[in-house]
Amino acid sequence: MSSQSLSLTFLLFCLFQVSINTQDLIYNTCKTSSQQDPNVKLQFCTTSLQAAAASHCADLKGLGMMSIRLTRYNITDTRCYIKQLLKNNTNKLDPYVKSCLNDCFELYSDAIPGIKQAMESYNSKRFFDANVQISSVMEAATTCEDGFKEKKGVVSPLTKRNDATFELSAIALSIMNILQSSST
Ligand SMILES: *[C@@H]1O[C@H](CO)[C@@H](O)[C@H](O)[C@H]1NC(C)=O
Ligand SMILES: *[C@@H]1O[C@H](CO)[C@@H](O)[C@H](O)[C@H]1NC(C)=O
Repeated sequence: MSSQSLSLTFLLFCLFQVSINTQDLIYNTCKTSSQQDPNVKLQFCTTSLQAAAASHCADLKGLGMMSIRLTRYNITDTRCYIKQLLKNNTNKLDPYVKSCLNDCFELYSDAIPGIKQAMESYNSKRFFDANVQISSVMEAATTCEDGFKEKKGVVSPLTKRNDATFELSAIALSIMNILQSSST
């Protein structure tokens, strides 16, 4: 082999190694998270992180940022969805469901600046602040879902979305835990 093709082989080998290692990082991170936190489901965690752009090049801190970003997309999308539900069905909605949706709209609207702050906190390694901000996002999703449960026979149209927001936030919190415990 010429030295050129040798170094090309070596380069390919390295790229291969890197891709294996990051796959492992996502899997191992999700595995640890799901063991430490019952709110984190292994399958959901790996699927979500693997689908995130550039997640295969990320280190642990990067994966944490990605989970916060995914949470933010989910919140923004859900807020928009609630708005459409309310708009499209103005006259068809049960008054109780409508009032729940209005509450959820408020909760998700408030969650948007909250998750943005969490990203800033996280970036400047203020993990305590990020933790508080992300926890309040989780609480918003729970409060939204609980509203529908308070009246018998009412089915929440947002269960899947609330669950996704809750789980993604839980992943972010868990990754912060791992980061902090590995740095001390
Ligand atoms: C929420 O995030 C999950 C994981 O990234 C994704 O699969 C799902 O489609 C998102 N849902 C919404 C409503 O954005
Ligand atoms: C609301 O109506 C628009 C326009 O018909 C439609 O594209 C959208 O999917 C609807 N959204 C919901 C949540 O019903």
